Amino acid sequence: MRVAAPDDIAQISVLLEHSFAYNAAHQPSYYKEASEKGQYPRSVIGSVNGDIYIALDEEVVIGLIHVEERSTPPYETYIPHKYAEVVDLFVDPTYRGQGVGEALVSAAKKWAASRRLDYLELFVLSENDGGIRFYERMGFETVSHNMRLLLND
Ligand SMILES: CC(C)(COP(=O)(O)OP(=O)(O)OC[C@H]1O[C@@H](n2cnc3c(N)ncnc32)[C@H](O)[C@@H]1OP(=O)(O)O)[C@@H](O)C(=O)NCCC(=O)NCCS
Repeated sequence: MRVAAPDDIAQISVLLEHSFAYNAAHQPSYYKEASEKGQYPRSVIGSVNGDIYIALDEEVVIGLIHVEERSTPPYETYIPHKYAEVVDLFVDPTYRGQGVGEALVSAAKKWAASRRLDYLELFVLSENDGGIRFYERMGFETVSHNMRLLLND
């Protein structure tokens, strides 16, 4: 487990394409499969606010977690605090069920703690039962519901 570096961008991009396809399978009206040329991981690796941690088998990237530092909006009602958003988490299907996802979440927790952030937060598609069960197993609790009203005629 380590923070991703520019040399990892090609392998990370392959895994991200699988992650895009996974989302597209759950919500095909809103997500599609896409080719990743490296722009997304390159921008995170070059940023001071976020990181990608990668899990490796020998030199092969088998899992990733993307975390970003976030702040509350500048309005009086918010008690100001900073937190970490887990933007993406994906483990190569061949390596699932072996503790890789848990190790990635653990790396994200350490990253957030080292920045003195208050908690990890994430959005998971409501169709992704497996992902929701995984996060609950990791100790995540539901704190809000993201609701949508379709405007089809
Ligand atoms: C969710 C995901 C990251 C889990 O990775 P993983 O390496 O298989 O998880 P682990 O082996 O570390 O499992 C940790 C715990 O979660 C549980 N768990 C993992 N996947 C689960 C699932 N689909 N349903 C229920 N529990 C699950 C494991 O049983 C384990 O619990 P245990 O400690 O009691 O044995 C992986 O399945 C994945 O990449 N899924 C597709 C992408 C996705 O859903 N990402 C999250 C939403 S963005």
